Amino acid sequence: MSAPDDPRLLGRDVRRIAFDEATLRARVAELGREITAAYPDGDLLVLGLLKGSFVFLADLVREIQRPLHVDFLVASSYGDATVSSGDVRLVYDPETVLEGQHILLVEDIIDSGRTLSTLLALMTLRAPRSIEICALLHKRIAKELSHPVRFVGFDAPNEFLVGYGLDHAENFRHLPYVASLR
Ligand code: IMP
Ligand code: MG
Repeated sequence: MSAPDDPRLLGRDVRRIAFDEATLRARVAELGREITAAYPDGDLLVLGLLKGSFVFLADLVREIQRPLHVDFLVASSYGDATVSSGDVRLVYDPETVLEGQHILLVEDIIDSGRTLSTLLALMTLRAPRSIEICALLHKRIAKELSHPVRFVGFDAPNEFLVGYGLDHAENFRHLPYVASLR
């Protein structure tokens, strides 16, 4: 499947659509049900990792049928490259108090796992009641992630993916599907 006629693509052809809109919608709804069932009590803080998680998070929180708060983290690691540099910095830190809360860290895609390992270490220092990860996509190649990823949308192919929040050099975040680049 390709999308050569999509005016959102800057004239660039994509290799293929990896996850189309209907597939994403159905799985996000299921994740919402899984997350709803996993938290019977306590405050839930959904922490989105910007920018990549913004589309996924917006859809996901509307599928979670319990009270919750939303905040964001901004970490920087890739720049414009398609390969992780391993240098992860926190450039926005939430003002919300994390102590005693159930935290659900929402990530677009797990590649090397470096971003999440670094953030988990930082978040754990603030004594949350629990901390879990929800990733839309997981490449299953992360060697550096010791914490299990509790909620995963899809296993991802080892290709560079864009759309539904994921970018290449800030392009393609607004695609309603996930595609792989040539
Ligand atoms: P990690 O630290 O290597 O696990 O990389 C995670 C971050 O890199 C994600 O939050 C994404 O922003 C970015 N990333 C990793 N793989 C891809 C991809 O295939 N497409 C777009 N961004 C990616
Ligand atoms: Mg990115």
